Formats: sequence, C-alpha cells, structure tokens
Amino acid sequence: MTTLSLTRPAVDPSLDLEGEIRRLKDELHAVILAHYYQEDEIQDIADFIGDSLALAQYAAKTSAEVIVFCGVHFMAETAKILNPDKQVLLPDLDAGCSLADRCPAPDFAAFLRRHPGHFVVSYINCSAAVKALSDVICTSSNAVKIVQQIPADRPIIFAPDRHLGRWVMKQTGRPMVLWDGFCVVHEQFSQRRIWQLKTQHPRALVIAHPECEEAVLGLADHIGSTSSLLNFVKNSPHDEFIVVTEAGILHQMRKSRPEAKLIPAPPSSGCNCSLCPYMRLNTLEKLYLCMRNRQPEIVVDPEVAARARKAIELMLSWS
Ligand code: 13P
Ligand code: SF4
Repeated sequence: MTTLSLTRPAVDPSLDLEGEIRRLKDELHAVILAHYYQEDEIQDIADFIGDSLALAQYAAKTSAEVIVFCGVHFMAETAKILNPDKQVLLPDLDAGCSLADRCPAPDFAAFLRRHPGHFVVSYINCSAAVKALSDVICTSSNAVKIVQQIPADRPIIFAPDRHLGRWVMKQTGRPMVLWDGFCVVHEQFSQRRIWQLKTQHPRALVIAHPECEEAVLGLADHIGSTSSLLNFVKNSPHDEFIVVTEAGILHQMRKSRPEAKLIPAPPSSGCNCSLCPYMRLNTLEKLYLCMRNRQPEIVVDPEVAARARKAIELMLSWS
C-alpha cells in the first residue's frame, strides 16, 4: 500500500508576508538590500536596490545590526567581509553564480603561479577565497576606472569573466591575461537574435551588460552595469529600448519610464525570458523565513576575510 505523505507548506499561505517582513525588520534592526535581478515583490520591499557596486558601498556604511541580502552569495559574502561583526542573512544559500562557481580558488592560485608578477583584478562575482588572492576587486560599473589606475608597467590578470575582461581591454587599451569564465545568463544572448530584434524595432536603442559576448556588445548603443542601463533609460530622450541583460532590471525601468517601450532580449534558446537561475532562488517566502529563523547566515573564514577585505577596500577607495 502506498502512503501519501503530505508536506505542510513552510509558510502559512494566509500570512501577510510583507507585513511580517516589515515587523521582523524593526525587531531585528535590519536593513534589506536587493539587487535589480531580484523578483519584483522583493525589490518593492527592499530598503535599498542597487547594482553590485552600490550594494557593496551601502553595506560598507550601514548602521543596521542585521543585513538581509537579497542577491547572490558573493554579494552577501562581500557585505559580511565588510561587516565581520554583523549578521548577514541570505534567503537561499544556494543562490550562487556561474562565474564564481567556475573559478575555484585552488585552480585560480595555480593560474596565478603560472603568471607571476601580475597585478590581479577580480570581478566581484567570485568567492571570498578568490578575492583573497586578488590585489583589487572591480564591478561592471567601475572595472574600466579600476584598471586605469593600475601602474602602467604592471602586467594584469583579470578574472573570472572573459567578456567583461575583453571589453575592459578595449576601453583601456591595457592587455590583460583573462580567466576563461562566463555568465550563463548573458552568454545566451546571440548577435543574430539581437540583430533580428533591431530590424523589427528600428527606432529602438540596444542597451547591454558587459557580461555579453563581444559580438552582442558590437550591436549596443550603450554598454554598462545594471545601474548604468537603468540611468540610461531614465535620462534618454528615446522611448524604445532593447534590453540585453537579466529581465529583473525591467521592473525599475518600467517604474521610471512607464511610457517607454522596453523590449527584453530573448536568449538564443528561444525562451522569452532571461532570468538568472541563482538570483531567482530567493523568494518572498524565503526572505520571511530567513528573517524569522535568522538563517541561512553567511560565514567567512576570518583569515580569508581579512585578505579579501584589503582588495575590496582598495576597490572602494579607487571608485
Ligand atoms: P551589476 O554589477 O551590473 O549589478 O551586475 C551584477 C551581475 O551579476 C550581472 O550579471
Ligand atoms: Fe552570476 Fe550571471 Fe546570475 Fe549575474 S546573472 S549572478 S553573473 S549567473
């Protein structure tokens, strides 16, 4: 005989989740930070929404006792490194990042040994252990500025995103040794499909994140971080945009330009959405549960954190 086991939902569906999250926020003296790629209802309840750099800058100066990070693991880990004495919560501990996953610290250390004497720039989308092996960290919004400040006589290693690295090389004219990593979301946008969209919408401007491949970036009218793309739409006299990045950014774009036509670029798979499978592991229910249970909590080895903090703080001072 088969017995049917009925699992109870983790959260009572009749609960006023938003109300409970606000109540817990006051109780914990917490701040809720969210990246633009989080689902709309998480963005709407957050105290601060930003790109990776703005979130790190906010985390560096917050006086809140608990930081609830609605983003991916490396972002919450950065907040913890900057706030070793604060509790940092992440709604789903499995919310990783393909760039971070494909750059394990032991492999990266071996790569550095094969290229001695290089100045090591790591994109913030990497683990604390990789940050600890780096001289400076960058994000997509300050990568060009950071690389421009490296002494001209130093050869450079850039990791882990090969597309961002290639774009930064073009912008700065500095050759760099690239780690061969990529983002599973941005890698899916194809030049052919963006070209087709452009012919269907000839008035639209193409705006793209620098994690896209070079051929896609070649079609873009504006390239930049999530904040940069949002600001471009906010301030542009144009009213039609093909948006080549994770679709979560559209929420704030729609709020600031409700009359504009925003066309999300489809990935080459043919699916009409481009959502980051890691970012989307966070839900409003998990946000409530992590605040109620005060876990999952981010923990970073203090020695690794101390070395990683130096590289992050150098980025903050060069930004
Ligand atoms: P931003 O630095 O633009 O926020 O990008 C982060 C990210 O993970 C892009 O995929
Ligand atoms: Fe990582 Fe790409 Fe997701 Fe950004 S969109 S968090 S780079 S997997």
